Amino acid sequence: MNTRQKILEILKTEDGYVSGEMLSKELGVSRNAVFKAIDVLRSEGHEIEGINRKGYMLKKQADILDADMISSYINGDLGVEVFETIDSTNDEARRLYRDGRREPVLIVADTQTKGRGRRGRDFYSPSHTGIYMTLLLFPDIAMEDSLKITTRTAVVIAETIEKFLGDSVGIKWVNDLYYRDRKFCGILTEAVTDFETRHVDAIILGIGINVTTEAFPKDIVAGSLGLHTVTRNEIAGSVADGIIRMMNCPEDSSYMEEYRKRFILTGKVIGFEKDGVTREGLVKGITDEGHLITEMNGEEVILSSGEISVRKDFLNK
Ligand code: BTN
Repeated sequence: MNTRQKILEILKTEDGYVSGEMLSKELGVSRNAVFKAIDVLRSEGHEIEGINRKGYMLKKQADILDADMISSYINGDLGVEVFETIDSTNDEARRLYRDGRREPVLIVADTQTKGRGRRGRDFYSPSHTGIYMTLLLFPDIAMEDSLKITTRTAVVIAETIEKFLGDSVGIKWVNDLYYRDRKFCGILTEAVTDFETRHVDAIILGIGINVTTEAFPKDIVAGSLGLHTVTRNEIAGSVADGIIRMMNCPEDSSYMEEYRKRFILTGKVIGFEKDGVTREGLVKGITDEGHLITEMNGEEVILSSGEISVRKDFLNK
């Protein structure tokens, strides 16, 4: 962290005023350096009140994406790249991979012009109010196991967001996250694979979170967290940190328990298309592999995300 970030961190934790003298002693820099850093923080949009003989107080924190700030929430080695505007953070990750990048990296954008969702859908990505992030990762896994990464990621995101929100969120199959009956987060996992060995060379893990987005275009049914008390830097950094921890942890099935706790489809009738035919099934639960257990005409039918598409009119209610 540089002086500016350290000052911001101190001001964030203090309720009252913090004197310039205390800041300069604590950080081992001159009073002038403190003064300049405060100036830069203000120019970034942070509202900092300064009163003679009392010091400084943070009135309102600006929510600007910043690579160093995001990094400060991540333990371990992860490059962070921030863009104001990009076509798609997943596309940027793919470009980095093509250009020879073989170290894990997190790409975060304030807005995307071609944000992509699953099944070729667009992902609405307005500026200032959401987090559009992609992790380019190099886990040593087989193709079959890449679905689990998405499932585990959904749990990591749910746990991280719940900590900030002080409220629980739901997971809808496959891996959409819901708050108050509205989808606020989607995950798009893409794998770069070696077809012959069926080994995964890289994972492109894209996450879109509507943090404070209030208005959506008419054709999009979505919601947001309405979370104004935490910066997007902290959310993005904490989510990335959770994912890195998860990747470093040997898989244990406890995450499925966490997934099931939040799974909101059990007991619901869903409509889906399989082989061009529309069917309906009663959702009974989820297997350890992340497949959907349904009942159709009294028979148990297990569905995998690859073979079916759940009808939008059922899911987006
Ligand atoms: C879905 O809900 O269908 C998945 C949405 C995934 C959106 C994220 S935003 C960051 C990354 N870049 C993209 O273009 N898509 C993912």
